[in-house]
Amino acid sequence: MFCDWKAVHQALCNLLENAIKYTPDSGTITVGTRPDTRAGFVRFYVRDTGIGIPKEDLPRLFERFYRVDKARSRELGGTGLGLAIVKHLARSHGGDVAVESEPGSGSTFSFTLPDHDNGIGAHPVSFSDHDEAPVAAS
Ligand SMILES: Nc1ncnc2c1ncn2[C@@H]1O[C@H](COP(=O)(O)OP(=O)(O)OP(=O)(O)O)[C@@H](O)[C@H]1O
Ligand SMILES: [Mg+2]
Repeated sequence: MFCDWKAVHQALCNLLENAIKYTPDSGTITVGTRPDTRAGFVRFYVRDTGIGIPKEDLPRLFERFYRVDKARSRELGGTGLGLAIVKHLARSHGGDVAVESEPGSGSTFSFTLPDHDNGIGAHPVSFSDHDEAPVAAS
């Protein structure tokens, strides 16, 4: 992989946090990687068997502060920035984000990162313990 390991850590944590929040205790969460269809990129994915997301919400999901069920999300806490940050991290490495979901069956969120120095990741986003995570430019 050619990326900032803190970026991978942050992106996976954000997706896992969501998977845990939106999946009942009896559900399953799977994390993995696979070669992307785009040569030179690896896809990281987090799959859950949770509540899923209605089709009409999918296009806006990675926007800052966008939340599907306002009341429920407020109850569960957070600000609605997690996915925007994942998108920012992937993009800053030349990668992308994707989501597939079926209400009632679950969701698969994924992002790609380069497996080599593509010249973009040569200056990866870095975090210090005191940094605020960057906010995505959409
Ligand atoms: N795995 C998932 N299953 C179902 N809905 C999800 C899932 N992940 C995200 N969502 C929906 O997408 C919205 C945006 O997610 P995002 O991570 O950006 O914000 P958040 O989790 O609400 O807050 P934060 O990440 O800032 O703590 C969530 O509020 C939720 O409605
Ligand atoms: Mg979140």
